[in-house]
Order: sequence, then structure tokens, then C-alpha cells
Amino acid sequence: MTRRPIIAGNWKMYMLTGPAKELAAALAKQVGRLADRDVVLVPPFTALAAVKEAIAGTNLALGAQNGHAKNEGAFTGEVSMAMLVDAGCRYVVIGHSERRQFFGETNAGCREKIKAAFAAGLTPIYCFGELLAEREAGKTFEVVRRQLEEGLAELDPALAPRLVIAYEPVWAIGTGKTASPAQAQEVHAFIRDWLREHFGAATADALRLQYGGSVKPDNVDELMACPDVDGALVGGASLKADGFARIVQFRS
Ligand code: PGA
Repeated sequence: MTRRPIIAGNWKMYMLTGPAKELAAALAKQVGRLADRDVVLVPPFTALAAVKEAIAGTNLALGAQNGHAKNEGAFTGEVSMAMLVDAGCRYVVIGHSERRQFFGETNAGCREKIKAAFAAGLTPIYCFGELLAEREAGKTFEVVRRQLEEGLAELDPALAPRLVIAYEPVWAIGTGKTASPAQAQEVHAFIRDWLREHFGAATADALRLQYGGSVKPDNVDELMACPDVDGALVGGASLKADGFARIVQFRS
């Protein structure tokens, strides 16, 4: 089974509109014509319009870093999935570890957001992973299983193959400590087994699993060579055009 690779750049809370436009334009030039992989730029909300314009007519796609589960309503400061579609997004990141750590997001909350994203026509990128203390206590699989069970509890099996999952061990995010290819593959294989058990072989074979956590130009090749690693969710290294372009053009 060959899955179409998917590389996403999560810009986090970086990039005013000027630099965002420049970065997107540089990437559009360097990797905007690739037809054999999905490349997603995930700027902050305020730069969505600028990036949308800069990547118009290319194969690059736009994503958002978060979205609310409700369609609309009195939720000051929030942005709905329909609004993200309206802004040109095709993807939305859900449950990033920073949202869990600093904004109290839970697996149950992610479940609602995943449903809302699909209902709006977006592709959710559901993120999760274990903390360092959990890994050291030998609880990685237990934690990941709960994140799968709770986050995907009400997922429509017909939509499941379209979901993207990003396994991001929290200890590897923004730390420069990448999981080894063996560590990444081990958890990805566990996730795919879980998917097979709950959604069947066809879904498990089709669903794409990204690895995230200090992915860089010099480690992307070995990570992408893992049989169950189908892509990368890249933070820090997605903020420089040359480096991200190299990551997108991984060799494996
Ligand atoms: P990093 O971030 O690449 O800077 O470790 C990854 C992420 O937060 O998705």
C-alpha cells in the first residue's frame, strides 16, 4: 500500500503578514508544483489571507492551527470550521500538544472538533503523543491508545480514511530531540494496528500518519523511510523556505 505523503508546516504564533507572504511565495516557487505529495502551510489565523493569495494556483494547500466545534455562536475569540473554509483552508490541526498543555484541550474536545471539521469539509490533522514522564514510566502505548479511543470514539467509519493523524511525542516538540526512526515506527505501527482493529484494514492502510517533533532537513529522510511514517508535521523548521523545501523533498 502506498500512501500519498503529506508534509505540513505549523507556523505556530510566528509570522506577521509581510514575512508570511514572503515565506509562502518562496515555497510556492520552490515546491509549489509537486504533484506526488500533499504540502500544507499552516499559518496563524491573521496570515491566512496573505498566504492564500501567495499560494493561489499552486499545489500548496492551506491549513489552520485550530477551530471551534460549533458552527457559530457567542464564543468570543473563537473561529469556526466554516470560517476556516471561508478563509480558504482545506486542513485544520486539532489537539496540538501546545493546545492541550496551555489551553486545556482534551481528547473529548478533540473528538467534537474532528466531527465539526469533517462536517465543514475540512481534513482534520489529529495530533497527540506522550509526555516524557509517560514514556519513561513505560506508558506510551497506554496514553496513545486513550488518545485514539477518546478522540476517535464517534468518528464516522466512512470518513475515517480521510483523517490525518500526527503522532508527536511531546518531549520531541521544539526540543531538538527527535524520536529515533525506530521509536517513531514503533508507535506508528501501534497506531495502525489500532486503526485496523477499530476501522478495518482498508482504513488502516489508507489513513496517513505524520510524525512530528523536531523534524529537520537532516533527519527527515530516515523518518520518512519508516514504513508507517507517511508524512511530517513540522514546526520550527517550517519557518525557513530552504529548509522546509528540503523537508518536503525528502529522499527515501
Ligand atoms: P517542532 O514542532 O518541529 O518545532 O518540534 C512540531 C510541532 O509542534 O508540530
